[in-house]
Amino acid sequence: VPESSGRPQRATVLVASNRGPVSYSLGEDGDLTSRRGGGGLVSGLSAIGSGADSLWVCSVLGAGDREAVRRGVGEPGVLMLDIDEATHAAAYNGIANSVLWFVHHLLYQTPLEPVFDSEFRRQWEAYERYNGAFARALADRAAPGAAVLVQDYHLALVPGLLRELRPDLRIGHFSHTPWAPVDYFRLLPDDVAGQLLRGLLGADRTCFLTRRWADAFGECAVRLLGPDALAGTRIGVHGLGADADFLRERAHRPDVEERMAALREQIGPGRRTVVRVDRTELSKNIVRGLLAYRLLLRERPEWRERVVHLAFAYPSRQDLAVYREYTAEVRRLADAINEEFGTEGWTPVVLHVQDDFARSLAAYRLADVALVNPIRDGMNLVAKEIPVVSDEGCALVLSREAGAHEELGEWALTVNPYDVSGTAEALHTALTLPDGERSRRTEALAAAATALPPERWFLDQLDALRA
Ligand code: G6P
Repeated sequence: VPESSGRPQRATVLVASNRGPVSYSLGEDGDLTSRRGGGGLVSGLSAIGSGADSLWVCSVLGAGDREAVRRGVGEPGVLMLDIDEATHAAAYNGIANSVLWFVHHLLYQTPLEPVFDSEFRRQWEAYERYNGAFARALADRAAPGAAVLVQDYHLALVPGLLRELRPDLRIGHFSHTPWAPVDYFRLLPDDVAGQLLRGLLGADRTCFLTRRWADAFGECAVRLLGPDALAGTRIGVHGLGADADFLRERAHRPDVEERMAALREQIGPGRRTVVRVDRTELSKNIVRGLLAYRLLLRERPEWRERVVHLAFAYPSRQDLAVYREYTAEVRRLADAINEEFGTEGWTPVVLHVQDDFARSLAAYRLADVALVNPIRDGMNLVAKEIPVVSDEGCALVLSREAGAHEELGEWALTVNPYDVSGTAEALHTALTLPDGERSRRTEALAAAATALPPERWFLDQLDALRA
């Protein structure tokens, strides 16, 4: 934190995450531009107010961030750790995103994956160093008895390491992902699996988005570490909801209206819309979603010319070859569908890959059907946001493997994400839902989706940790 921020050296509430609330990009002219992110933590932390001596510890993620740290540029209350590039790459791309993400989302594909060899061991050591750097920074900057909220699979070792350095702290950990079933988790080398579990169990509270993921973690801990494994840690469930006030206000600003007009042009008059908005992410199952839409058009020709699929798939983790290949596959399939069915005045799939929040909100408002079909997902906020924002009410086609399904399943059209025929049928049912039924479901979905808004979600965790 720059001295000019006037913040005290020691904070009473600390958040730690790989990706922080602000990032910097370096222009050709050498100028730094900052960009603030959104999300539950950002609104949660702002809810405790500026007098709370809070500090958010995060990592430098690219050249812009690194330059900002070098120049001493920063935001009050944000501490960016300048972890060396090779260590960060191995910990983030290697262990966090290629191993832990894959384990918790069941993404490995035999016969080629996984292979735990000397390259993995080198990355694992980087992951330990990376977690160690966070633990030391938090230990340095936490006031006596402070509450520390550690986020996600990038930092699974931090609670245990921090507990050793600072036994006085109240430590919480939150997993924003699912937790793997025990037999899948045991793909990991035994020592690594044990370290990950003991790392999280170093927290006073280890928290998850749904009961299902919490139970899976508890089962892993007991099976791998023994019946007393959970003695010192409470397991919490906090199901993050959508921020209705923010979304409704933001979705009615002029930039969103402009994008709605542009999208209406692309859709054409009188057509239904099927909307999806995701990071281009293997677990989001975008390819099977497109296959299901293609099957709908093949088997139910009555929908040709009458429906448009707005598929927004924004770039993510492009350092990983498998993500780049997946992105290419999404494009290829969207093109193939347009090739097969498109006509002079009708483009069946409108694919956008350039991240644009205003355009996402415009699509939310225009949605007749929302398609959310992940293979596995910690929660999935898109499933919660679309019903809150859609102008005319929307039907939600929702994977039973999304955490959100635990809260929304009753009013959604549930699909098995691998079942492409079943998903095509669900799209048809969703498109033909009578108006009254659709409004009734949308209202119920929106109410359930906003039950625990981000501020409440954050403050509940803080209260529970301090209790
Ligand atoms: C998931 C994870 C987050 C992560 C986000 C974006 O939601 O739970 O921790 O920040 O994906 O991924 P990225 O790798 O770009 O940070």
